[in-house]
Amino acid sequence: MFKQLTNNQIETVEVILNGQKVQVPQGTTVAAMALTQGLRFTRTTPVSNSKRAPFCMMGVCYDCLMSIDGKANQRACATYVQNGMKIETQQGVGSALGDGSGE
Ligand code: FES
Repeated sequence: MFKQLTNNQIETVEVILNGQKVQVPQGTTVAAMALTQGLRFTRTTPVSNSKRAPFCMMGVCYDCLMSIDGKANQRACATYVQNGMKIETQQGVGSALGDGSGE
């Protein structure tokens, strides 16, 4: 669906997307990387568990929330990839907010 334009002179960084190592051009947002990697959604909603994907690509809609380096609810469209970054699709509110048990 989305395709990264090729430019062999741009340096790449390695990130881990849902457990898979991915080489990404430096200066790419996490949302753009997720879309070009074919991710169909970046999060599920807490109430209905429906799937959401980046929409506005400018930090307004919050549909691109992902878990980045263990921290949930990060806007993927407003975050640039960095070498070694661990990025995961977020399920519901994400693990950083706990499971509601208060622990
Ligand atoms: S795509 Fe809308 S806030 Fe990230």
